[in-house]
Amino acid sequence: MKFDTPAGANPIDTMTVVGRPHTRIDGPLKVTGLAPYAYEHHKEVESPAYGYVVGSAIAKGRITNLDTSAAKAAPGVIAVVTAEDAGKLGKGNFNTVKLLGGPEVDHYHQAIAIVVAETFEQARAAAGLLKVDYARAKGRFDLTEGLKTAKLAGGGDSGNEAKEDRVGDFEKAFGEAPVKIDVEYTTPDHSHAMMEPFASMAVWEGDSVKVWTSNQMIAWGHGDLAKTLGMPKEKVRLMSPYVGGGFGGKLFLRTDAVMAALGARAAKRPVKVALARPMMANNATHRPATHQRIRIGATKDGTITAIAHESGSGDQPGGSPEIAAAQTKLLYAGSNRLIAMRLAELDLPEGNAMRAPGEAPGMMALEAAMDEMAEKLGMDPVAFRIKNDTQVDPAKPDRKFSQRQLVRCLETGAEKFGWSKRQAKPGSVRDGKWLVGMGVASAFRNHMNMTSGARVRLGSDGIVTVETDMTDIGTGSYTIIAQTAGEMLGVPAEQVVVKLGDSSFPVSAGSGGQFGAANATAGVYAACVKLREAVAQRLGYNSADVTFKEGKVTSGNRSASLKDAGRGGELVGEDKIEFAGLDKAYQISTFGAHFVEVGVDSYTGVVRVRRMLAVCAAGRIINPVSARSQVIGAMTMGVGSTLMEELAVDKRFGMFVNHDLASYEVPVHADIPHQDVIFLDEADDKANPMKAKGIGELGLCGVGGAVANAIYNATGVRVRDYPITLEKHL
Ligand code: MOS
Repeated sequence: MKFDTPAGANPIDTMTVVGRPHTRIDGPLKVTGLAPYAYEHHKEVESPAYGYVVGSAIAKGRITNLDTSAAKAAPGVIAVVTAEDAGKLGKGNFNTVKLLGGPEVDHYHQAIAIVVAETFEQARAAAGLLKVDYARAKGRFDLTEGLKTAKLAGGGDSGNEAKEDRVGDFEKAFGEAPVKIDVEYTTPDHSHAMMEPFASMAVWEGDSVKVWTSNQMIAWGHGDLAKTLGMPKEKVRLMSPYVGGGFGGKLFLRTDAVMAALGARAAKRPVKVALARPMMANNATHRPATHQRIRIGATKDGTITAIAHESGSGDQPGGSPEIAAAQTKLLYAGSNRLIAMRLAELDLPEGNAMRAPGEAPGMMALEAAMDEMAEKLGMDPVAFRIKNDTQVDPAKPDRKFSQRQLVRCLETGAEKFGWSKRQAKPGSVRDGKWLVGMGVASAFRNHMNMTSGARVRLGSDGIVTVETDMTDIGTGSYTIIAQTAGEMLGVPAEQVVVKLGDSSFPVSAGSGGQFGAANATAGVYAACVKLREAVAQRLGYNSADVTFKEGKVTSGNRSASLKDAGRGGELVGEDKIEFAGLDKAYQISTFGAHFVEVGVDSYTGVVRVRRMLAVCAAGRIINPVSARSQVIGAMTMGVGSTLMEELAVDKRFGMFVNHDLASYEVPVHADIPHQDVIFLDEADDKANPMKAKGIGELGLCGVGGAVANAIYNATGVRVRDYPITLEKHL
C-alpha cells in the first residue's frame, strides 16, 4: 500500500479496539517467566554449550601473540575461536567497528575470542587461561582535545548534511540583538544499561544457522549477520521474540550473535552467549558525550531573532556524531539560524544511538538555555516558548508541520501543574529544609516513516494470526498489533495471535527512533486491507462497502461470521506500507511539554524530584496504557540522565571505568515520584492510515532541561555540566 495522500476515513476510525486501554497480551507470559528471552530457548534447543566472550585488555594497538593452548586443555572446553581461527569475516553495514577484533584492537573490551565449554563456569575459568600479549598504541580518548580539530559532520535520523546549516545571517542578527545569551553545556557518555544483557543462542543445521538473539531491528541484524559470516541471507535466520530492553543498544548486530554463531560452528554444538555485565559498557555501543554551545538573541519583547546551536561529539573512525543540535532547526521561530555538528575521532568504544539519540542530550542543553534566556528577558519561561512557536519549518516557510500542538501542550501543562504558583525569583520557596523549584521544557521528537510489512492469516478455524518481524522491546508491540488487526477484522484483541521477531516473517519497521508503533501497525493495517478483500471476495461481497464488526462480515443486508469465511481454507493477506512523499511536503513531528517540581535539601544538596507531568501531542494514541508506560519510562530516563547517569572515562587507558550497574547509576523506584501523563486528542492524517505517530522518545526529550530548570529555580545555581550531582550546586 502506497501512502501518498492524507488518510481519509478508514476502519481504524471506529476505535472500538484501537485507542482503548488494553493490558499487555504478553503480560502473563512475562510475569510467570514463560516468555523465552534469547538465553532461554530451551524448548527449541537441547543442551547448548556455553560461550564466554573475552574482551581486549587494551584500548588501542595490536595483539602480538594469543596463546589458546592452556584454555583449550582446560576441563570442559570444547572450542576456542579467535580472529585467526574464524576465517574471513565481513563487517555489518550498521557496525562501525568489527565485532571480533584481532590482531588490530580498536577499543577496550572489543571481543578477541570466545571460549566454548560444557558449563558457564568452565568457559569463564578457561577464558582466564588465554595468554594474550599486546603492543599498546597511543589512543585518543579525550573529547575536549579531539574537538579542537573536529570536522563538521551530519548524519543520523534528523539531519544528514556535513555542513553548517544556515538561515539568514546569524552573526549579524546576534550581534545586533538587544538581549542575548552565549552558553555552553556538556553531557557525558551514557550507557544503555538495559536489564537483559546482550545474549544469543546459535544452532547450525548443515550450512544454515539459526540465531535467537535480543535485537530491536531483525532485518538489519539478519542482513549484517549474514554479511559478517559471509553467508547468503537465506541460510541465516534471526529470531528475537522477546527483548528485555534495548534503548538503542540493540538496534544493531552485536558481538554476542556473531560469537555464538562462530562458537557453535567450531564446537559443532548449539552455543549460547550472554555478555557478562562488566563487558557491556565497553564492548557494546554507548551514547557519546557532547559539548554544546547555544547562542540566542532576541528583541526586548522576547521575539527570537537569532539562534545557534553547535554540538561536538566523538566516535571511532568512520562513525557518526550525536546529532544533538538537530531539533533546533525546527523547534522555535527566528529568522537567523545556525546549526552545526562536529565529530572528533576517538578510540573509545563505538558511539551510537541511545534513547532518543540527538534530541535527548540536545534538549538537555537547548531547553535549559531557553530558561536562561527567559530569565534574562524577564519573561515567564512558558510564555517565552509560546511566543516563539512556529507553525512552519523555519528554514522553509512553505513547509508546514502536519500537526503542531506545542502551545496547547504548554498551556495545558501549565494549568494542570499549577505553574502560576511558581516564583520567578530562584530560591524563594521553602518547605522545611527543602528548597523547592519548578521547571518547564518543551518536548520535541521527529516522527519517522519506515516501510513496514506484515502477513495476516484467517485460519479455517477462524483464528486471526499476524506475522511480522517487528519486535516488542517491552514497549507493547504485541498488544497494539493485536488491537490493529482486531479493529480491522472486527474481533477483540484477545482473539488475535501475534507472532513477532523472526526473519522468516515480512520485514517491518522494527523498534527504534520511536518509529515502531505507528509504522508497524500501519503495515498490519495494509495487510488487513488485503485480507478484508480476500474475505469479501470469498463471500461474494462488494469489498468497497464491507464492514467487519463483532465477529461478523456485513455488506448491505448480507452478513456472515468471520469464522464461516475462514472455513473454505486459510485466507492470507500480506502487504507493506510504503511512504511516497507526504513527509517531504509536511514536517511530521511530535510535541509535548514537561513540568517538574524538585526539592533540594538545603543542608546536603540532595535533589529529590517531587512531581512530574508530561503533556504529549503525538497523533492517535493506539493504546493509552502502553503509551503511558512508554512516557513514564522515558521520564524516568530523563531524571537519570539529569541527576546521575555518567560513564566515567579513563583518559589514560581509554575505557569506561564504571562498567556495571553498581557504579553506573540509574534511577530506582525510590528516585521517581508520582508521574502524570496527558495525551492531547490528535489524529495525524499525514502520518499514516493509523493517524498515529511515535510517543516513546518524546517522553524523554526535554525532561533533562525541565529538571535542570527546576533545580535552578529552587537554588539559583545554574549547572551546565550534566549530570547535576550535588557537589556542582552546593
Ligand atoms: Mo532508539 S535509541 O532509536 O532504539
